[in-house]
Amino acid sequence: MTVDTPHPVAATGRQPTPPLLRVEGLTRHFMVSGTRIDVLHDCTFDVSRGEVVAVVGQSGSGKSTLLNVLGLLDEPSSGAYTFDGVDTTSLREGRRSRLRGDGIGFVFQQFHLLERRSALANVGVPMVLGGVPLLRRRTRARELLEAVGLGHRLHSQPHQLSGGEQQRVALARALSREPALVLADEPTGALDAASSTMIMDQLIDQSRVRDAAVVVVTHDPKVAERADRVVELVEGRTR
Ligand SMILES: Nc1ncnc2c1ncn2[C@@H]1O[C@H](COP(=O)(O)OP(=O)(O)OP(=O)(O)O)[C@@H](O)[C@H]1O
Ligand SMILES: [Mg+2]
Repeated sequence: MTVDTPHPVAATGRQPTPPLLRVEGLTRHFMVSGTRIDVLHDCTFDVSRGEVVAVVGQSGSGKSTLLNVLGLLDEPSSGAYTFDGVDTTSLREGRRSRLRGDGIGFVFQQFHLLERRSALANVGVPMVLGGVPLLRRRTRARELLEAVGLGHRLHSQPHQLSGGEQQRVALARALSREPALVLADEPTGALDAASSTMIMDQLIDQSRVRDAAVVVVTHDPKVAERADRVVELVEGRTR
C-alpha cells in the first residue's frame, strides 16, 4: 500500500521561502601581468536560511575567491549572484556595502583584526558601523566573547592572543549584528579539537536558533560532516 505524503505547501499552507543566496553560472578570473587566470568557471548553487553548507576543495581551488563574492567584497566576472532577493551584479557601492553590513558576517581566513584594539573593541566594530549604542555594544560584545570561551581575554589585543583566540574573536565579531548570512573561511584552521567543536557549535547554533544561512570553507572532514550539505569546488566548478 502506498501512503501519500502531503505536499509541504499543502500541509503548512505557506509557500516555501526562496533561498537566501543563489549563484548561477558564476565565473571569476584575474589578470596577472597580461595573463588571464581563470579561477571560478561555473559555480551554481543556493543556500537557504537555516542551512549550514560546507565548501571543500583543494588549496587554490577558489574557495576564498568564491566566499569573497558571496560576501559582496568582490564581484564575479560573469554570472549572477542574488542575495536576499537582490540581484547584486548591478549594485552601486553604497547599496552593496549596506547590504553587506546589515546582512553578512564574515570570518576571514587571515582574521583581519584591528591591532592595538582590545577583543571587546574588535567585536564592537560592526556594531559601531551599524549605529548600535555604546552600552548595548559593550554588553553584546562581552556575551559573544564569553560564548566563544574568551570571557577572560576581553581586554587583550590581537598580538597578545594566540592564533586560535584571534580566530574566535573574528567569529564573535562576525556574529555581532546577527547577520542573515554567516561566511567563515577555515574558521577552525588554527584550533585544537575542543575549540574547533566550540566554533562549529556556534555556527550551527546560528542556523538552528537564529535561522541564519551559514557557509563554511573547511579542510577538516569533521567540520564538513556536521554541515547539512557539502559543496565541492573542483577546478573552479561546483559539484
Ligand atoms: N587577486 C588575485 N589575483 C590573481 N590571482 C588570484 C587572486 N586571488 C586569488 N587568485 C588565485 O586564485 C586561485 C584560488 O585562490 P583562493 O584563495 O580562492 O584559493 P583557496 O581555495 O581559498 O585556497 P586555500 O585552501 O589555500 O585557502 C589561486 O591560484 C590564486 O593564486
Ligand atoms: Mg582560502
